[in-house]
Parts: sequence; C-alpha cells; structure tokens
Amino acid sequence: MTKKVLAIYYSQSGQLGEIIDNFTTPLEAAGASVEKHRVRLVNEPNFPWTADTFFSVMPDCQLDVPAEIQPFDLKEKKYDLVVLGYQPWFLSPSIPFNSFMQDEGLRAVLKDTPVITVTGCRNMWLNAFVRVKKLIKAAEANHVGNIALVDTHPNPVSFVTIFHWMLHGKKDRYLNIFPPPGVADADIKNAKAFGQTVIPHLDDDNWEELQDELDKQKAVVLNYNLMIIEGVAGKIFRVWANIIAKKKNKLPWIRAFKYYLLIAFFVGAPIVVTIDAILFRFTSPKRIKARKQHFLNLN
Ligand SMILES: Cc1cc2nc3c(=O)[nH]c(=O)nc-3n(C[C@H](O)[C@H](O)[C@H](O)COP(=O)(O)O)c2cc1C
Repeated sequence: MTKKVLAIYYSQSGQLGEIIDNFTTPLEAAGASVEKHRVRLVNEPNFPWTADTFFSVMPDCQLDVPAEIQPFDLKEKKYDLVVLGYQPWFLSPSIPFNSFMQDEGLRAVLKDTPVITVTGCRNMWLNAFVRVKKLIKAAEANHVGNIALVDTHPNPVSFVTIFHWMLHGKKDRYLNIFPPPGVADADIKNAKAFGQTVIPHLDDDNWEELQDELDKQKAVVLNYNLMIIEGVAGKIFRVWANIIAKKKNKLPWIRAFKYYLLIAFFVGAPIVVTIDAILFRFTSPKRIKARKQHFLNLN
C-alpha cells in the first residue's frame, strides 16, 4: 500500500499519543507511510496542574479562544487520510486542539481529505465532538470515522481519579484503593484493532461502511445518563464562562466555579438523571433515539 497518512494530535500526559500510536501501527505494517505530529503550545500548561490553573482554562475552552501553537511543518501537501486526535476539556475541544485546527496549512491539507477522529478522555466527549465536527466541516474535510476511548469506571470514580491524575501527574491508583485513571491500558492497546479495520477502506479509498464496522467493534459506546448530564452541564458551563470572561479579577470566580462543579456533580447530576428517567427515559424512545443519533452522526 502506498498511501500517505497524517496523524496530528495534542497530548499532555502522552495518553492520546499512545492511542494514536496503537491505532496507526497496523496502517504502517500494511505499508502506509504514517507521519505523526504531536502539537505543542508556545505556553504549555504545567503538568501536573494546580487546581487554580486547571479550572482557569474553562472559559477559554467553552468560548473557543485559541492559544499560540509551536510551528510545525507537514511533509506533504495532500494525504490519503488524516487522523485527528482530540481530547475534551470542560466539555469542549481542548484549547490545543482548537488552536491547531485554526492553522492555515493544516486546513489546506484537510480540504476534501478523509478524516478519522480519535479521542481518549474521561467519559464526557459528546459536546466537544459536536464542535469538533463543526471545525472539520469548516475545513471542508470529509469526516469518515470516529473512535472514542473512555475511562469505563463509574462516573463518580473516574471523577475522583482524573483529579488525582491531573493534580499529581501520575496515572496510578489513588490511595491504593481507586482504580487507575484514564483509558485502560488494554483499551489503549486495542486501538490496534480499529486501525486494522481501516486498512481495506484506505486501500480502496472507499469509506462508506467504515463507521458501521467501527461501531460493531465498540469504537464508540454512548452512555445515556452521561448524555443527559452533558446536555445540561454544557449549557451551564457556558453561562459561567461568559460571566468569568468579563471579570477583571477572575480567580475568585474560577474558585466559585470549582465548588459549583463539585456540588453539581455529586448532587445536581443524580437529580437530573432521576428527573429525566421519570419524565422521558421510558416514554419518549423516538426522541431519545434521535438525540443519540445526533451525537453518533459524523456530519
Ligand atoms: C483541563 C481539562 C479538562 C478536562 N475535561 C474533560 C471533559 O470535559 N470530559 C472528559 O471526558 N475528559 C476531560 N478531561 C480529560 C482529557 O480529555 C484527557 O483524557 C486527559 O487530559 C488525558 O489526555 P492527554 O492525552 O492530553 O494527556 C480534561 C482534562 C483536562 C486537562
């Protein structure tokens, strides 16, 4: 196979990089030339984060404010496939991803080119994905596949463990009681299987059935309760972002948002899920199906 593949992504801890590496391994083994770029910001946020720096990026995530990226050169003018790695930050495309998607050179490459999106996140990627799709559409690319790897532990457990990871920098077991945070090692390695599925489509330049095949392999699994929570949380985050963005002294507001998030997560979210279950879950199957489809569609 003499196909050219570009894989471009940001990864702070390296997790998304590992996923992309596993995903592209079968393509390379099949003879495709794979060019990988790990984009970096000019002002990289420190890792591990402090609580203040972590929450302080929320407004810019929600309001799509880009940051300056370190320049990168692409070897080719056109590729047969572009793999776009993104991660959600505060239910939005991460600032680095949103920033490199503004790059003129990359946008020229993306025009009329098949694109597969790959994410590795905690478990809330739907709102971000809707906005990633808009960025892909704006670049006039052809979105042909989506893979979403998540932390499959219960929502409150992964909420605790991701903060342990982000604020301490180690993807290890918090207090030796909690499971390791992030996407499980086995799932990261299993990204190879999705790469394998892509090979015949890349070879024939025929992408029609790809997403159906990926869905059968559980490359995307949609969790109903998380979809409901994200729907409500996304709207409220935006209100907070707009308020905080206008404040001169942002820090007290950032800290207020942090406490709001804790209460919303442990008290508000279960209430929202319960109300939804009573009102809609079993009475509006068509509406639910349509909402799920909205998030599964590639365009
Ligand atoms: C500031 C910030 C906000 C995040 N918000 C979300 C989120 O809304 N939903 C989610 O599933 N994961 C969220 N995550 C986890 C990331 O999507 C990602 O899984 C993690 O940062 C590891 O990715 P990496 O490959 O860049 O290191 C967040 C991470 C950071 C740093």
